Formats: sequence, C-alpha cells, structure tokens
Amino acid sequence: MSRHFTNLHEWGAEGLARLVDRALALKAKPNAGLPLAGKTVALCFMNPSLRTQVSFEAAAAALGAHPITLFIGQGTYALEWRDGVVMDGLAAEHVREAVPVLSRMCDALALRCFPEGKDWAVDKQDGLLNAFRRHATVPVISLESALGHPCQALADLMTIRERMEPRRKKFLLAWAPHIKASPQAVPSSAVEMAALAGMDVTVLRPEGYDLDVSVMGRVRAACEASGAKFEVTGDIRAGYAGARVVYAKSWGSLERYGQAPDAALREPWRVTASKLALTDDAIFMHCLPVRRGLKVEDSVLDGPSSVVIDQAENRLHTAKAVLLELLATQVPEELCPTSSAR
Ligand code: CP
Repeated sequence: MSRHFTNLHEWGAEGLARLVDRALALKAKPNAGLPLAGKTVALCFMNPSLRTQVSFEAAAAALGAHPITLFIGQGTYALEWRDGVVMDGLAAEHVREAVPVLSRMCDALALRCFPEGKDWAVDKQDGLLNAFRRHATVPVISLESALGHPCQALADLMTIRERMEPRRKKFLLAWAPHIKASPQAVPSSAVEMAALAGMDVTVLRPEGYDLDVSVMGRVRAACEASGAKFEVTGDIRAGYAGARVVYAKSWGSLERYGQAPDAALREPWRVTASKLALTDDAIFMHCLPVRRGLKVEDSVLDGPSSVVIDQAENRLHTAKAVLLELLATQVPEELCPTSSAR
C-alpha cells in the first residue's frame, strides 16, 4: 500500500473500497472524536478551489488536525521543481528545500497543481507532484494534478456505492462542451475508478478527444481483470443507452493540446434531459464547478437524477478517510468496518 495518496492505481480496487467503507462509516458517525489531535496538514494550492480546499480544511479540523492552507506564489514564494535550472525567473524557492522544510513542520502535505496546457508530453510527467513525492518525508496527497484527481474519484465511488452495487453496471463518461481546453484529470480518474469498481465502462467522446493512452491502458486492464466491458465510442445514442451512471465532463483534445473545443460541438454534445432519457434511469454526476447551459441543461442539474451535491458532500467524508488512513496511529473501532472488497 502506498504511503502517499496521489493516484488510484497504487491503491487498487481493494484499497479504494476500504477507504470508501471508512468514509461511509464517517458519514454515519460525523463525531468521530479527535484521532488526529496534534497533527498538522499543509494544503498547497497552485490553482483555485472551492470543494477541495473546504473539504480538506473541514475534514482535518473535524478530526482534530490543524490545516494550513498555502496559496503558492501568492502567500508564499513561487516554487521551482526542475532540477539543475538557474533560478533567475519568478520562482524564489526550490522544492528541494521547501518540501523537506514543510515535512519537518507538518504531518502530511497536499498539493493541487493543474497542467500548464502547452505541451502534454511535459504536463503528463506531473513534475511538481512527483517532486513533492520525492522530497517529502511525510505522506503526500494529490488535490488534482495533470494526470488525476484521486480524491474526487474516491467521493465519486462513494456516491455510486450509496445508490447501487457498482459491479457490471454501465458507467458512461460523457464528453461535454466547454469554452476552454479543460484538463484530463477528472475524466481520467473517473473512468479508472469505475473500472476498478468492476463497472462496464463506456467513454463517449468526439473524434480527436481520446484520453491519454496510459490511462486507457489501465482502464482496459482493470475491465479485463473483472470481466467488465470497456468501449470508446462517438455514437451518442448508443453511448447513453443502458447507462446507470452518466458522468459528464469536458476535456481538451490531446491532438490539439491547449486549444478550445470547436463551438460546433456544443449543441450535439451538451448533456440534455432527452439524452438522459435514453439511459436505464441513470444518475447524473459531475465533479463541479459546472457551466450551466453550456455543458449541461439546467433541467438535468436540477432534476431528480442529479447527485452532484451529494458528490460534493462526499468530498468531506472521503477526505477524512484519506487523512485517517495516512496519519492516524489508532483509529476508533467503529471506523474500521470490515472491507466489502467491492
Ligand atoms: N471538484 C473539485 O475538485 O472542485 P474544486 O475545484 O472546487 O476543488
């Protein structure tokens, strides 16, 4: 088991199921005592956030830990992570010093670092996050990087499990329009989570919008291992047909990296009530924030199928589960449910 929580594949199906079991127990028993009293967690943000920042601050505080939120480059010095560079630019501090210093003062480090959006070959290295992992002497948590958003995926799995046994249910990742080239992190983690949970996975996207090949390889392998189906299609009607979960997300093309999607894709690809009607009474999921009317019709977001607010709430419970897993020396027995090993 990884001592960091920066991706899904190091935790695997059983590790994720165990974290969700604990998150469900925490949701049922919000006053879990203060098992992390005396601990300190540094939350480092290179980019904006609402849910991630608030869920981790609230989770840490509820368990007795002290969260310190740092807006890197605003309240702190801008950070360099590349080795061997002459630091004559904006960055005044290197992670080689900053991360060991934070490790001496804090019990865990969490980092949000979106991709730059210029060169996927560079962005997919997740340079800053991996530099944190290399130089930290305490656990590192990803709060979203170029390659994934594992904390979001954990809350997504919890939200699905609250409504259905996931195995062999059809999970549809539905590409949705946007005015910008959005990152690949959330959709990549969403399909990897669904595959690890044993769901049949369909990725519905316009031509030229495939997800990164390494992510798709892991999804394919996980589906093969569980006997689930895996398909990538551009057929909108077939994609929605029979889905039990519709997970809407926009992401940019890797072929035209950093360029906004063609406006002609907006109307055909927007998530609408009529598309949802093609499903098998699917729940509608989105990580938020969402651009109403552009990606998704209001009637879908506000309708009975939408679970987006529960998804967001579950960020709190799963954040507690991750912090407990990485930091607690002793966990109350009622928060250690025997794993359902889903
Ligand atoms: N879904 C999510 O990570 O939300 P924030 O960007 O607001 O943290």
